[in-house]
Amino acid sequence: AHVSFDASALKQFVHDNELSEIQAMVNAADSQLREGTGAGADFRDWLHLPTEYDQEEFARIQAAAKQIQSDSDFLVTIGIGGSYLGARMALDFLHDSFYLAHADNDDQTMVVFAGNSLSSSYLQDLINLIGDKDFSINVISKSGTTTEPSIAFRIFHEMLVKKYGETEANKRIYATTDKARGALKTEADANGWETFIIPDGVGGRFSVLTAVGLLPIAVSGADIEQLMAGAAKAEATYVDPDLTKNEAYQYAAYRNILYRKGYTTELLENYEPNMAMLAEWWKQLAGESEGKDQKGIYPSSANFTTDLHSLGQYIQEGRRNLMETVVKLDQPNHDLNVPGAANDLDGLGYLEGKSIDWVNTQAYRAVVAAHNEGGVPVMTVHIDKEDEFTLGYLIYFFEVAMGISGYLNGINPFNQPGVEAYKTNMFGLLGKPGFEEVGDKLRAQMND
Ligand code: PA5
Repeated sequence: AHVSFDASALKQFVHDNELSEIQAMVNAADSQLREGTGAGADFRDWLHLPTEYDQEEFARIQAAAKQIQSDSDFLVTIGIGGSYLGARMALDFLHDSFYLAHADNDDQTMVVFAGNSLSSSYLQDLINLIGDKDFSINVISKSGTTTEPSIAFRIFHEMLVKKYGETEANKRIYATTDKARGALKTEADANGWETFIIPDGVGGRFSVLTAVGLLPIAVSGADIEQLMAGAAKAEATYVDPDLTKNEAYQYAAYRNILYRKGYTTELLENYEPNMAMLAEWWKQLAGESEGKDQKGIYPSSANFTTDLHSLGQYIQEGRRNLMETVVKLDQPNHDLNVPGAANDLDGLGYLEGKSIDWVNTQAYRAVVAAHNEGGVPVMTVHIDKEDEFTLGYLIYFFEVAMGISGYLNGINPFNQPGVEAYKTNMFGLLGKPGFEEVGDKLRAQMND
């Protein structure tokens, strides 16, 4: 299997009978998800995206990627949250560790990101990186009104028009947005920008396999057909609600069993630095899907072996509310052996000739045993390799697991009412028309 789930390190935490005892609830969650009888049913279109995507648009994405590769050194991908994390994690996962260091390579179009923070220094640094090189923009926003990407887009849009003039600039802007609504759609139509659609029934955090993720991933040179093929394979694999047969559902069930025993924080972990962003993507998927109605597993992450030298202490001996899910790569893209040395002053002779990936795997095994001993349940999602097919498969594994998991915990996994609350306050403080009263009230509270 390209992706497989291993719960063998849960033995001391979950009894054998517990999985069969939660089966009836999983069946109910499965009906809610598959038949649309649960809350948020309008946002389940990601379920069949890998097999029912718009082929005409897919071809346009491939064509746009070719065009951008031929006329641009950089693609500035502008978006935040669900309009950012998927492409970002995929790029890290699929390319080498020093991807951006190849920015001087004339043959490669580098995908860079903006609009994912409000840092002016970051924006200036990116402007400097691009310098006088050729670039295009992919502006991504489902609502078309998000502050961070809107500001970044103004900056790079102005830069594009200055460099190429209005007409040519309009050919270098690709807008990924809602099919009918929002400021970005209006602007795109008025200027003739090529547009791609974020389907109505796909929420931001489930959108990586739409144009949101696919265009930047394709521009980076990765194979989006393989990505979709891997996801399609997973779609076909994780259909049977029987927990003895469905590993994505098993993951959902176990994390809920553990949650109910007080393991309220889950750490997504890796042993490969280029998977750190995978955890960031997963955190949005899990946190926005499940953290509501004053409940839900708190999604966090750790990067190993690095963080064994920092967070490791807490995980081993701190408050016992942690569970861990390791995404363990079984076959690295490259392996090296520990070199020999004339003398053995560092005492490492016993590892001479051993593969570094073997050492990494022994570290993983040692950590699982130690953390189990320390009272931390550990689940593992094994992945074969870091390629497009496996990534598509893994994306779908986590997406379908979150759908089931949310329903198991009695919430709507597909809304995100909480992400709006701070915005009202921010608009008040920024002086956005219509929010004056909120602003006045807040400033008074802050003695401003
Ligand atoms: O999941 C969400 O709704 C958010 O995290 C959004 O993805 C994020 O705010 C970006 O929204 P938009 O694509 O509308 O700009």
